[in-house]
Amino acid sequence: MYKSFFGLKENPFNVNPDPRFLYLTQEIEEALAGLMYGIQTRKGFITLTGEVGTGKTTLINRLLDWLHQRRVRTAFLFNSRMNSNHLLDFILAEFEIPCESRSKSQQLMKLQEWLLERYRAGETAVVIVDEAQNLSYPVLEEIRLLTNLETSTDKLLQVVLSGQPELEEKLKLPQLRQLRQRIMLRCKTAPLTTPQTFDYINERLRIAGATGDPIFSKEAVETIHLYSMGIPRVVNLLCEHALVNSFVEQKRVVSGKVIEEVAREFQLDEVEPVAPAGSTRPDADVYNSESFLQNLGEALSRFRAVPPPTTRERK
Ligand SMILES: Nc1ncnc2c1ncn2[C@@H]1O[C@H](COP(=O)(O)OP(=O)(O)OP(=O)(O)O)[C@@H](O)[C@H]1O
Ligand SMILES: [Mg+2]
Repeated sequence: MYKSFFGLKENPFNVNPDPRFLYLTQEIEEALAGLMYGIQTRKGFITLTGEVGTGKTTLINRLLDWLHQRRVRTAFLFNSRMNSNHLLDFILAEFEIPCESRSKSQQLMKLQEWLLERYRAGETAVVIVDEAQNLSYPVLEEIRLLTNLETSTDKLLQVVLSGQPELEEKLKLPQLRQLRQRIMLRCKTAPLTTPQTFDYINERLRIAGATGDPIFSKEAVETIHLYSMGIPRVVNLLCEHALVNSFVEQKRVVSGKVIEEVAREFQLDEVEPVAPAGSTRPDADVYNSESFLQNLGEALSRFRAVPPPTTRERK
């Protein structure tokens, strides 16, 4: 509703992981380059980790676009609740490999034959698992076994595991030692710094069609950074609601005060500055997209283990 008022062609702060809006911070650029390099050079296992809402899925979507342009075959799995019996079913279906049998050994043979054909044709195949922090140990073990499919020199199947920091913790456990040893590259996403938050907001506005004077005041962006802790998903939420509120008030420039109001509306100002004792994290599901927005305060407390520099001083 506010688009024409602010001279925009589309909604700039959608919470979808749309790769068209990807803003390349140095960290994101490095992560993307790492993933591309790892896949091209057949490294086998690569991880992508980062806090909730820091752009992993958006980055993966950009990677998928890049891979598809190069005709690399991909299997994208995001149902991380699957059990180990279903893993091969999903992979065969995603790669469109016909297999009548449901026996694991038959399925594995089919996959190996297909991968060898790809390899001889000079092609690569990639399995990407998003939200991998939720994978069970048996599934992770199955995935490890898949990377045993290799020639004497190269891995036939490239695997990218993407997930929140719980994934890294999981991989440190002794029973996953063998998998951990196979990880050849570790890529990361990170929250935005203050200057990056400025650029991030402007870049999204530019992609959405903004051409005129700045829509967010300097103070507004600083306040956004303060409350969002640089987490893009929260930045989007604050910006989206601030645009709506400013439109209602018919103000063409979003002020710091409007951001304060939105932050209060979402109770971002009531978050305890210190993480709970033992820093016990709620189930990772809490951080999945829709529910995350209803649990922002709790989610943000994870970032506030160290008291933020100026939040309290500002009040
Ligand atoms: N570098 C970026 N450039 C543009 N938009 C981004 C960037 N990083 C994150 N976003 C935006 O922030 C929101 C959350 O991003 P995304 O869903 O990719 O995070 P995530 O790390 O996968 O989160 P989760 O841990 O909950 O799965 C999306 O709207 C996405 O477009
Ligand atoms: Mg995600």
